[in-house]
Amino acid sequence: MIRPAALTLSMLLMTSIAAAAPPQPERFGQTADGQAVHRFTLKNAKGVVAKIITRGATLTELHVPDKSGQTADVVLGFDDVAGYESEGNQYFGCTAGRVANRIAKGRFTLDGKDYQLAINNEPNALHGGVKRSFDKVVWQGVGVETPHGPGVRFAYVSPDGEEGYPGKLTSVVTYSLNDKGELRIEYEATTEGATPINLTNHSYFNLAGEGSATVLDHTLQVAASKYTPTDDTLIPTGAIESVEGTPLDFRKATRIGDRIEELTETANLGYDHNLVLDGTAGELRKIATLKDPASGRTLTVHTTEPGVQFYSGNFLMGQTGKGGKAYPHRSAICLETQHFPDSVNHPQFPNTVLRPGQTYRHTCVYTVSAE
Ligand code: GLA
Repeated sequence: MIRPAALTLSMLLMTSIAAAAPPQPERFGQTADGQAVHRFTLKNAKGVVAKIITRGATLTELHVPDKSGQTADVVLGFDDVAGYESEGNQYFGCTAGRVANRIAKGRFTLDGKDYQLAINNEPNALHGGVKRSFDKVVWQGVGVETPHGPGVRFAYVSPDGEEGYPGKLTSVVTYSLNDKGELRIEYEATTEGATPINLTNHSYFNLAGEGSATVLDHTLQVAASKYTPTDDTLIPTGAIESVEGTPLDFRKATRIGDRIEELTETANLGYDHNLVLDGTAGELRKIATLKDPASGRTLTVHTTEPGVQFYSGNFLMGQTGKGGKAYPHRSAICLETQHFPDSVNHPQFPNTVLRPGQTYRHTCVYTVSAE
């Protein structure tokens, strides 16, 4: 006969063994130049499943049940590494860096020295460069138990001078998923030489399921009273203006399609704006709620960052994604929590320069649910 005390002890032991087994990598494929790419799967008790690969520390799948329990994958992506290496990949799900978003003419001056980055978004530098930007390199990944649930920790050491940036930079990105549906992304970085840094996640969400025709029926609410107006190359003028009376006012939940046409003829081609978030940067606060009324799926976003780039997939062009599905114009949106674009050239914007001895930290939590 098993005594109750013994049973309790062995059950406890089993629980702790189960809880301590971190997610294991599986082979996802290899890059064109022969590097192995691995994938980690995070699951919660509510049927949410997130898959993340080592190339670009990229979120490739996020399965979420709707209000009737029907599950769909709500992020755009590809079935294999070749897809991620193809022209059709517009930063789907990746970790963008070393500096996400734009730097005017790819130029900046730091501590009296001038730097020139590659121009990959005429006439500017975008999302960290051409060949060795953070979305394209293979990170080292390891499954971990975090205080926020099972997770995967990715590390990448970017050498001094890579993609034209100064300073050897060590970045660590940790994804975790818990039973509240919180997909938490924590960024940390340290450097051996002063460098600008701005890391973000570039997931494209369609809460009706990736491959659905449009995202214009989703409603969005963003706690942002201000935004950074830009020139016609999407570089901030330096001003910070009120969203009042503009199509960027999402302080009340609004259908994305309601006012987007007012922006189609602008340089932004739709929504492609940095919103200045209310509240105190550095504190984790709820900044956005995205809803698909038909499925009831909801995404809320919390961040410690001062801004969010709200991008409505204006460059999506019907490329073929997962399972042969097409991703048409405006069929997904990105909510990229980050510092403001071109901050390194705007001393009045929150600082993006990281120096030796300092630690860069950024938390973004994407919480999925259905109601
Ligand atoms: C960001 C930019 C957009 C576009 C996408 C990637 O969100 O702001 O203009 O370049 O990345 O296609």
